[in-house]
Amino acid sequence: MKKTIGIIGAGMIAKTIAAHLAKAGYSVTLSNSRDAESLKDVVATLGEGVKAATAIEAAKLDIVMLALPWKSLAALPSMTDWKGKHVIDATNHFLTYQPDFKLADLGDKTSSEIVQSYIDGAKIVKTFNTLSYKIVEKDPHEGNGRRVLFLSGDYADVKNESMEIIKSIGFVPIDLGSLATGGRLQQAGGNLAGINLIQI
Ligand SMILES: NC(=O)c1ccc[n+]([C@@H]2O[C@H](COP(=O)([O-])OP(=O)(O)OC[C@H]3O[C@@H](n4cnc5c(N)ncnc54)[C@H](OP(=O)(O)O)[C@@H]3O)[C@@H](O)[C@H]2O)c1
Repeated sequence: MKKTIGIIGAGMIAKTIAAHLAKAGYSVTLSNSRDAESLKDVVATLGEGVKAATAIEAAKLDIVMLALPWKSLAALPSMTDWKGKHVIDATNHFLTYQPDFKLADLGDKTSSEIVQSYIDGAKIVKTFNTLSYKIVEKDPHEGNGRRVLFLSGDYADVKNESMEIIKSIGFVPIDLGSLATGGRLQQAGGNLAGINLIQI
């Protein structure tokens, strides 16, 4: 049986990924800063396989995706015991969006290393963060190729599991290495941020 996936966040990127996952047969639970009732209309548009719950309930599922604003990270520590949990980090460290797109100061850390400090012991895979939802929502099959999703992380087991999920929804995973090395390339402002690559 496929693992359950909880998403912390129910905005543009969360809904987009939830739709792909549901199509591939995953049971997905979206959450926001409020309650399940507030997401009733949202999940109705995403079809069978997508449910709504509180963030605390979503955080207890097998795999948890972070799709919340950078400024909301402080809500994470109290949601669950994160030790050993496979966490997919789709966040970017934007403090503001259009028109100035101000980035948070990370010091010498990568954004996922900062995220790690909020979810002690979690096994983080950074992915789904490099492309706008407007690109991710499209069919990943383009011409004779498939769209690439970069990922990085420090644990082979969860990285392999993330790669299987990425393949199952039609994308091609490219492993960039550790959070420190790959994370820096794919985070906002990195050399691979915004690169829409098709593997032929
Ligand atoms: N948009 C994109 O194309 C894109 C692509 C890749 C990565 N990202 C990254 O993904 C993250 C989300 O971006 P987005 O554009 O999807 O944002 P968004 O549309 O503004 O949605 C943010 C979601 O996070 C929820 N949220 C806020 N605080 C929360 C909390 N404490 N607990 C649970 N949920 C909370 C919000 O719920 P409420 O409505 O209750 O506040 C909302 O559902 C950001 O870090 C962004 O940089 C975005």
